[in-house]
Amino acid sequence: MPRKPRRSQSWFGRLDRDGFIYRSWTKNRGIPHDQFDGRPVIGICNTWSELTPCNTHFRVLADQVRQGVLEAGGFPLEFPVMSLGETLMRPTTMLFRNLVSMDVEESIRANPLDGVVLLMGCDKTTPALLMGAASVDLPTIGVSGGPMLSGKFRGGELGSGTGVWQMSEAVRAGTMSQADFFEAESCMHRSHGHCMTMGTASTMACMVESLGMGLPGNAAIPAVDGRRNVLARMVGRRIVQMVEEDLVMSKVLTRAAFENAIRANAAIGGSTNAVIHLLALAGRCGVTLALEDWDRFGHDLPCLVDLQPSGQYLMEDFFYAGGLPAVLRELGDVLNRDALTVNGRTMWDNVKDAPRYDLEGRGGPRQRVIRPLADPFKAKAGIAVLRGNLAPDGAVIKPSAATPALMKHRGRAVVFEDSADMHAKVEDESLDVKPDDILVLKNCGPKGYPGMAEVGNMPIPAKLVKQGVTDMVRISDARMSGTAYGTVVLHAAPEAAAGGTLALVKSGDTIELDVERRRLHLEVSDEELARRRSAWSPPAAPVPRGYTRLYFDHVQQADKGADLDFLVGSSGSAVGKDNH
Ligand code: FES
Repeated sequence: MPRKPRRSQSWFGRLDRDGFIYRSWTKNRGIPHDQFDGRPVIGICNTWSELTPCNTHFRVLADQVRQGVLEAGGFPLEFPVMSLGETLMRPTTMLFRNLVSMDVEESIRANPLDGVVLLMGCDKTTPALLMGAASVDLPTIGVSGGPMLSGKFRGGELGSGTGVWQMSEAVRAGTMSQADFFEAESCMHRSHGHCMTMGTASTMACMVESLGMGLPGNAAIPAVDGRRNVLARMVGRRIVQMVEEDLVMSKVLTRAAFENAIRANAAIGGSTNAVIHLLALAGRCGVTLALEDWDRFGHDLPCLVDLQPSGQYLMEDFFYAGGLPAVLRELGDVLNRDALTVNGRTMWDNVKDAPRYDLEGRGGPRQRVIRPLADPFKAKAGIAVLRGNLAPDGAVIKPSAATPALMKHRGRAVVFEDSADMHAKVEDESLDVKPDDILVLKNCGPKGYPGMAEVGNMPIPAKLVKQGVTDMVRISDARMSGTAYGTVVLHAAPEAAAGGTLALVKSGDTIELDVERRRLHLEVSDEELARRRSAWSPPAAPVPRGYTRLYFDHVQQADKGADLDFLVGSSGSAVGKDNH
């Protein structure tokens, strides 16, 4: 069969003036002429940045990929894209996920690449790179940066994010000193890598693997383990073969792959952020995926892993216990076993012999980080999709991180109009709030914040913390950090800033949450809601120009993945014109 013409040869394989230009400047680093002979040109898309602490080892990973590409006879070309550092960027990295996806998409399409390796770590870097690459659809493999080593503090373990939420509440309750709080800062994050709880970064790394977009083992190998470098090296070798096989992204990212990822997310007690990111990614791939699919494929499944924030262990333990392949093997009967993965094998071929280990305890019983399907860590742990007049287009809750007694609850609303209002009032001892009230936060959705910040796990009001209250029902149009926990209803759609019913809630209204019946209801008559709506007016754009204005004007609601409306779909890899 005649070989498909190599895409890069329409740049590098030419004898004319433009061929001279395309090759000559590229040779300035000492690239020999034979590198332009038609061998696969592999882009290494790097999100290294000192402003993204979770990705600061990516130069090493990129070099490993480069070595692998060379070993397999390819021609590697590394390129940077905007990076998204979860801990430093304001107002929220989610505002920029779609911008980075555009950067990635256009960088790939505009350049002489035949295949791409995506280096991803900190939360939003993973969906942003997958989304951008999917809209071009070249042969593509994802390499996750890997989790940090476990945090260690005074003889105990300290999980990224999760420990912050716990300790900050302890400081507020007066049970932890400020000095101890400072010391814990250095104990939590001890090595390169991303958050080592089952937060959004770890969840998305698991999504990469369960979608079939990464090599087996991608999700859990610690960032500083030599095997992470080996994996990157093997990816470099494999992407060259994928170009030869024309194994493009759309052959992997099928409906079956997304169903597998949803199931995997339930089994790992994964982040609610995965819902938004996979909906957006599916939109780029032309795969029909609805919010309800999370309930349909995930809600009956148990959580098999005992990892923070739902449990006690950390990603390093998860890796030693077998990692994601062991979890996927346990799910065997419910997986789409024939889903193709980037190594050319099916999902089931990759995991059917994956071992699962209980870990040696320190004088105590063996640690069961990954549980068998017959004896799960938590039953029915998949993300639940709620509906009702308070969220006609849906809202989500993560049952594995919630308080069981609050999953069916009726209470009085205590409303915060926006995050500034919440921060101003939550420490106020005179706030009219009781333990069985329901906290409601408005205007933190895609348009409202803007960017749908991770503020949905709003702090328990100070006066209740002092009474020992540790959880309350909280409802918002915001997101929540994957490292957070609590009975937190998120992603209410339409959001308040788009005129959703959430905008009309007043303090003192009664709200009913019934997770078993998937119900989220504001007990206010339609007539009264209509009266309130006539007095409501939409917010103006937060700024008159620039990317934030573009985002405000075009962002879709959470149930559609919060992608920009004009980015949905793919434009392929063709570029019709030369640059001179
Ligand atoms: Fe980067 Fe958590 S802050 S993964």
